[in-house]
Amino acid sequence: MSEGRVPKEGELIIQDFLPELKGSHLADSIVEGLLKEPKEIPSMFFYDERGSKLYEMITELPEYYPPKLEKRLIAMAADAMAHGLRGHDIVELGSGDCSKISILLGRVPAEDIPTLRYVPVDFSRSAVEESAAELRRRFPGMDIHGIVGDFLSHLDCVPDGRRRLLVFFGSTIGNLEREKAYDFFQELAQVLRPGDEMLLGVDMVKDAAVMEEAYNDSQGVTAEFNRNIVNVVNRMIGSQLDPGMFEHVAFFNPEESRIEMHLRALAPATVRVEGLEAPIEIQEGEMIHTENSYKFTPEQVQGMIEGVGLSVRESHSDERGWFSLLRLGA
Ligand code: AVI
Repeated sequence: MSEGRVPKEGELIIQDFLPELKGSHLADSIVEGLLKEPKEIPSMFFYDERGSKLYEMITELPEYYPPKLEKRLIAMAADAMAHGLRGHDIVELGSGDCSKISILLGRVPAEDIPTLRYVPVDFSRSAVEESAAELRRRFPGMDIHGIVGDFLSHLDCVPDGRRRLLVFFGSTIGNLEREKAYDFFQELAQVLRPGDEMLLGVDMVKDAAVMEEAYNDSQGVTAEFNRNIVNVVNRMIGSQLDPGMFEHVAFFNPEESRIEMHLRALAPATVRVEGLEAPIEIQEGEMIHTENSYKFTPEQVQGMIEGVGLSVRESHSDERGWFSLLRLGA
């Protein structure tokens, strides 16, 4: 900084779109899922404050390979990208903690940092607030515009007007049903204007044992993460289910090319919901489906990208082809 120049104070805005959803369709979507056969709970409800912390712990587990591989790939991509980001909005969907974006920001020239605006979009308010505080400390002068919401519903709340780099790390696209993933990807492609770019992380199909171990860690953190969804359900619909009465189940379903997570009831339970005529009965041994994590083949990834008219500018993968990071152009 030259003498006499006052460093720019980065602007901080956090917009919370969850309260407007809360009373209405969030609770309804849980009840709807519990009324289905087989029962299900949408996986977005994993991410309350505790769930987000547990997910951060999962990312540190030796068995959960995706974040370690992806971080190496982000570092490779960052070297080529960091000098071309001046004046950009960096929009991160499902931002969580800021460890991945920090790798990219850490390579941006210091004088370009105050020209950037970082837009984290996450379901967890604490994750958005904590990462905003951390990034303001590490990258002073950068504007931050956090969006607390569901990135599927709040894409149109992302601020506009600058060149965009959209980042969708962690293979979170794999948590959407295939058709939904395709539709959402199409929406994402439309958010990009010519010259904008996207960084997309995808977890690839591999040996089932490797994938199953990643979702059945020896310390039981994933089991705890899975069971924590019961606490969120209790708060949202006023039920009193005991998370301890559920067993964590995770396996690879080869026909669907996905890891499935379920909660198996160890005892029967009754859920009374205000406004519902009859209570919802959970039988002993019954499975409640909590998450799908789709794994991709190179052909599926290629088909999805070509289908929405984006082009692959760079593709990074580890030696075993377990994880891919794609730099896409509009
Ligand atoms: C956030 N998402 C990409 C993770 C996954 O692998 O599907 C969530 C997760 N579930 C269990 N472990 C991690």
